[in-house]
Amino acid sequence: MRAIAVSAFRAEPELIEIPKPEPGAGEIRVRVEYTALNPCDWQAAQRSPDDSTSQVFPLVVGVDFAGRVDMIGNGPNRFRVGDPVFGRAAGPSSGTGIGTYCDYTTVAQDSAVALVPPGLPLDVAAALPSAGTAAAQILETVALRGHESLLVVGAAGGVGSLLTQLAAARDIRVIAAVRGDERRRMADLGAAATIDTVYRPLETAVREMFPNGVDALVDLVATDPDAFAARAALVRAGGTALTTRGVAGRAALPAGVTGIDFRLEPSPVLLDVLAAGAAEGMLRVPIDIELPLEKAPQALDRNRAGGARGKTVLVL
Ligand SMILES: NC(=O)c1ccc[n+]([C@@H]2O[C@H](COP(=O)([O-])OP(=O)(O)OC[C@H]3O[C@@H](n4cnc5c(N)ncnc54)[C@H](OP(=O)(O)O)[C@@H]3O)[C@@H](O)[C@H]2O)c1
Repeated sequence: MRAIAVSAFRAEPELIEIPKPEPGAGEIRVRVEYTALNPCDWQAAQRSPDDSTSQVFPLVVGVDFAGRVDMIGNGPNRFRVGDPVFGRAAGPSSGTGIGTYCDYTTVAQDSAVALVPPGLPLDVAAALPSAGTAAAQILETVALRGHESLLVVGAAGGVGSLLTQLAAARDIRVIAAVRGDERRRMADLGAAATIDTVYRPLETAVREMFPNGVDALVDLVATDPDAFAARAALVRAGGTALTTRGVAGRAALPAGVTGIDFRLEPSPVLLDVLAAGAAEGMLRVPIDIELPLEKAPQALDRNRAGGARGKTVLVL
């Protein structure tokens, strides 16, 4: 089968042929029809070997998928051959080398995999698992009430676009920090205000709007603890500063601001809820571009360079 894989950490992803994986006991094999790109795909491949637990190579890139069940492993299973399914595979963290940028993948039947509900196209389902689950769990974690304010840095990307919608649906005032003129797009997603940080320093714009600080910060961008701490200084005492980039633990945060290093914990129940919202049109899954699998190396380079405006979906 075709797969986009790396032969070692820090090697360039390339199209290769590998054998189809066999489903083990309690697993399903999925004929992947769509996979979606997440920054963790290139981040995992770019890891330094020192960070790694044992990893099988070639390492097939990718975690998100949608397709049809093609084979069932031994033992009890909640799926049947032919079921349309979507989900988030363990990917590189499994250490097995099996990802989702490939024609067939295997996942445990009791892991983050769910049926695609009627009315939800498979390409949209593929774009939902990582970004949608992250957005929903981040919103639960910051635990804001209606009319409270949420500053989202990196709001135009996959997680940010979905987080903005989910927060706005709870009457939370989202201040979307982006690079470029994304006002109309972010307002359509429900943002109360948009700051173009290319033209206006974030700190100046936020302090002008919220002299006493915002109620919470979600930073999807900063990899430098000091940069995260500077943004956390825009949060009021008693508020929350959450990062998806693992820097809160090393940041000198202002007194009274709670720092959180977010860790995604995908679940089939949450996938069901998100898929139902998308199928009913209450949650728009913004697909920026669809590309054939062969274009994955260029798509990964493009994402690494920045500029994501929603999701990149790969078609198999
Ligand atoms: N810890 C976890 O469990 C977890 C879970 C999900 C995601 N993540 C991480 O969270 C990050 C975001 O994920 P994603 O899927 O939303 O990525 P994405 O789709 O690539 O979007 C990232 C967005 O950030 C924007 N951006 C970059 N620098 C910016 C800046 N200085 N100011 C404002 N916007 C900026 C990018 O656009 P421009 O370049 O045009 O500004 C892009 O729109 C990734 O690093 C991902 O790995 C972590």
